[in-house]
Amino acid sequence: RTVYVNGEYLPENEAKVSIFDRAFLMADGVYEVTSVLDGKLIDFDGHAVRLQRSLDELDMPSPCTMDELLEIHRELVKINEIEEGMVYLQVTRGAPDDRDFVFPDPETTPPTLVLFTQNKPGLADNPVAQKGIKVISIDDQRWGRRDIKTVQLLYPSMGKMMAKKAGADDAWLVEDGFVTEGTSNNAYFIKGNTIVTRGLSNDILHGITRAAVLRFAREAQMQVEERNFTIAEAQAADEAFITSASTFVMPVVEIDGAKIGAGVPGSNALRLREIYLDESR
Ligand code: PDD
Repeated sequence: RTVYVNGEYLPENEAKVSIFDRAFLMADGVYEVTSVLDGKLIDFDGHAVRLQRSLDELDMPSPCTMDELLEIHRELVKINEIEEGMVYLQVTRGAPDDRDFVFPDPETTPPTLVLFTQNKPGLADNPVAQKGIKVISIDDQRWGRRDIKTVQLLYPSMGKMMAKKAGADDAWLVEDGFVTEGTSNNAYFIKGNTIVTRGLSNDILHGITRAAVLRFAREAQMQVEERNFTIAEAQAADEAFITSASTFVMPVVEIDGAKIGAGVPGSNALRLREIYLDESR
C-alpha cells in the first residue's frame, strides 16, 4: 500500500514518523476517517470542516489547505485502487527536539500529516447489517472534550474489549445515567415514528454521518428528538442503531442482554441505511 507522510507518497514500510512526535508521546493529534464507495469519498466536506474545528480547538496549526487535503485523499484512493473502504487522516502537533508538556513553537515544529487507505470490499453490503449488533453499556470514563476528534482512543479501545469479553460487539457509554454515544459511533433508538439521539455538546463527537442521517430521517417524515436518554428507555424501544463513517447505519438488536423489539434489525433502521447509502454516493 502507498501511504502519505508530510508531502511524500511512499510504500508503507518506508514511511517514518519521529519517536518525539507529540501524538506518540502525548496523544496530541487529531484524526478523521472518511469512507469510500464506488471509488468516491463520502461526505468529505463535513470531515474537512470538523478537522479544521478540532485543529482550532486545540490551537494546532493546519498542515495544508482543505483543497490540498482533498487532493491527497483522491490521489491515495486512486494509487491504491480503493473501490470500497476508508481513508484515515491524522494531524499531530509535530515532533519537537525533546519531550515537553509545553506546546512547541509551530514556526520551528511543523505539524505531522499522515494519511493511509484501508481497503474494505463489501463495506456497503456488509452482512452484519442484516443481523444487527449487540451492545453492552459501560461507564463513560473519557475526558470532557469528546467533540474534538483526538487520537486519545485508549478508553474506547478498552470499551470494545469489554464488549468482546461479554460476548457483545460494542459498548454504549453512559454518564450520569444517560447514554453519551458508542465507543466509535453515535447512538440512537426509535420509538414509533420518532428517532431519539443525544443532542450536540462537548460530551459527544458531532458525527458527520449523524448529521446526514438525521436530515434524511426528517425528509422521510420521521420525528427527530435530540435529547438525553437512558439505557432503560433504549431497551424498551422498537429499534436501535448506531452511525459512523465506517458502519453507516448499523442496527442494534440487543442492549445489555435485552432484545430490542423482535431482536432483529428494525425496518426503519434498515431503510435509513438504504437511504444513506443511496443519497451519499
Ligand atoms: N469514529 N462518536 C465517536 C466517539 C467516534 O469515534 C465516531 C467516529 C463517531 C461517528 O462520527 P462520523 O459519523 O463522523 O464517523 C461518533 C471513527 C469512524 C473511528 O474512530 O474510526
